[in-house]
Amino acid sequence: MTNNTIKESEVNGNEYDRKKELEEFDNTKLGVKGLIDSGITQIPRIFQHPPETLFDFQKAVRITGDAENIIPVIDMAGTHEEVVQKIRDAASTYGFFQVVNHGVEVSALDRLVGAIRAFFEQPDEEKIKYYNRDSVASGVGYFSNYDLFHSKAASWRDTLQVQLGPKSVDPNAIPNVCRAEVMEWEKEVKKLSARLLSILSEGLGLSADRLSPESFLARINMAGQYYPYCPEPDKTIGIASHSDHGTLTVLLQDDVGGLQVKYNGQWIDLKPVRGALVINVGDLIQMVSNDVYKSGEHRVYANPLPRSRISVPVFFNPAITSDKLYGPLPELVSPEKPALYKQFTISDMNAKFLKKELKDKTMTSYFRL
Ligand code: OGA
Ligand code: NI
Repeated sequence: MTNNTIKESEVNGNEYDRKKELEEFDNTKLGVKGLIDSGITQIPRIFQHPPETLFDFQKAVRITGDAENIIPVIDMAGTHEEVVQKIRDAASTYGFFQVVNHGVEVSALDRLVGAIRAFFEQPDEEKIKYYNRDSVASGVGYFSNYDLFHSKAASWRDTLQVQLGPKSVDPNAIPNVCRAEVMEWEKEVKKLSARLLSILSEGLGLSADRLSPESFLARINMAGQYYPYCPEPDKTIGIASHSDHGTLTVLLQDDVGGLQVKYNGQWIDLKPVRGALVINVGDLIQMVSNDVYKSGEHRVYANPLPRSRISVPVFFNPAITSDKLYGPLPELVSPEKPALYKQFTISDMNAKFLKKELKDKTMTSYFRL
């Protein structure tokens, strides 16, 4: 009885301190980069993760997707049949692959990475103007840890978020330092996502337009992710383990590295390949494909290098509607392969997503029959 009372007040005391420290950090509006700029050599305790969820830099056996060709790098200039087959295989094995010869000039990729870097590295007083956690309403938001107040431990990264659909953001709302590059990327990434979706559709043995852009790619959210140097990378993480919840993600990363994909219980490095884009399918496509495609679990370890890492994922999702049902496609369901998920609406799915911290957000567990 006495013991219980003591334990309870300790827990409450810690929770209270944590909230205050989170608020103090959020109020700086300078994110993790601000901590590094201030010269810290130890990470604040709000960033400390339990050891079992971390990457062990000492013990790790490094398996690199590129060198050992584990996560495939797919040449989209191959024959159509080849490309469909390779993407189908990768999406159904790992849920992840990289593409080259995807139709976007490498110089445009470099420009985007440079512009996102320029946003984070501009003078504090310029950047601070964009700090807000409600980018859905405003179209553009810069913040650190979108689940800062809901997660058990914060992550070593800052984010600039731009809504690219269903309605494109007003160009004037996009920070000047990256406006032209983001708008250029919006055009390219929309084209590429439609092509990938039609290939994924064919990969299921269906017509190229069975998964339509109108039903699957309407809501588009770009994140410029900034992973500064971390002085204690063995105590925190860049982004906690999760799967993306929507249709698909097209991600551009610079040459620093840190993204890892889980396969057969092991974390595999998704090594940067110059000019390549990383593609992964989300929980929604796993469910719609009745588990033919896999939504790969992934994370980014805290950056141990003196150079900050940039990545730019673009997340594609259906529009939020409450009258349209999603679930395993009837063509993929048979007495031998019964439906593994119930039907649901995107507004259901979104409500579940908003309630959870990132690392617990696998949508497939909510809707599995
Ligand atoms: C994400 C993500 C990986 C990266 O933002 O969902 O997984 O390399 N990012 O930044
Ligand atoms: Ni992700």
